[in-house]
Amino acid sequence: AASVLLPNDLQGCRILVTAGPTREEVDPVRYITNYSSGKMGYAIAEAAAKRGATVTLVTGPTSLQVPDGVKCVPVSSAEEMRSAVLNNFTATDVVIKAAAVADYRPAERGANKLKKKEDELVLRLEKNPDILAELGAQKGERILIGFAAETERLLAHAAEKLQKKNLDMIVANDVSAEGAGFDVDTNIVRFLFADGRVDELELMKKEQVALRLLDQVEKLWKAKQQ
Ligand code: CTP
Ligand code: CA
Repeated sequence: AASVLLPNDLQGCRILVTAGPTREEVDPVRYITNYSSGKMGYAIAEAAAKRGATVTLVTGPTSLQVPDGVKCVPVSSAEEMRSAVLNNFTATDVVIKAAAVADYRPAERGANKLKKKEDELVLRLEKNPDILAELGAQKGERILIGFAAETERLLAHAAEKLQKKNLDMIVANDVSAEGAGFDVDTNIVRFLFADGRVDELELMKKEQVALRLLDQVEKLWKAKQQ
C-alpha cells in the first residue's frame, strides 16, 4: 500500500544492484563467507523497482525473497558475481554495489572433502578481483555507487575508496556501531560524494536508507541526462 505514495521518478533508469555475501569454496562441503544478510541491497532493489526503475539484482546466497518486478541473477562466488555484473554492465545506467564481496578465496579448491590429519592446517588464500574498481575503470557515463563497511576511521577509509574506485557516491557504514551493520534492520550511514559533499543520516530502517539513497541516484542520473 505504501508503494502508491512513491513517485515514479526512476522510470527509464536501468539499475544494477548487487547484494548479499559471496561464498568461496574450500572443498565440496565447506566455504568461507561473511555476515552480510543482503537486507540493504534487497531493500534498494525493491524500492527502485517501485519507483519505476528497471532493476537487475545480482545476489549472493541469502534467505530473502526476490522483490516483485526485479530480475534476479543468483551467484555464489566473487568470480561468479564479477561475470554476472560484467554481463549486465553495458545495459546499465546505475550500479549500486551493496554486496559484501569476499576479498580472498582459497587458492586451491579440493575436489574431495579435506580429511582431518595434522594438528594444524594452513589455508592459503588468494585475492579476488575487485569488481567495483574494475567497473570504475570503464564506467563511461554510468553512475557508480559503492558501500564501505568500516570498523574504524570511517570517513577517511570511505573517501579513499570513493576516489580509488572512481565512484560518484559511497555509502559509509560503521558496522561496529549499535543499530548498524550486517544482520540488523537499521543502519547509520553517511553519503560521501565525488565533489566532497557529505550527508549524515540518522539511525533509520534499511528501507528508509534505500529511499534516501535513491533520491540521490535520481539527482545524479537526471544531472547526467542534461
Ligand atoms: N567490492 C567489490 N569487489 C571486491 C571487494 C569489494 O566490488 N572484491 C565493492 C563492495 O561491493 C563495496 C566496495 O567495493 O561496494 C567497498 O567494499 P569494502 O569491502 O568496504 O572495501 P575494499 O575495497 O574491499 O577494502 P577493505 O575490505 O580492505 O576495507
Ligand atoms: Ca573488502
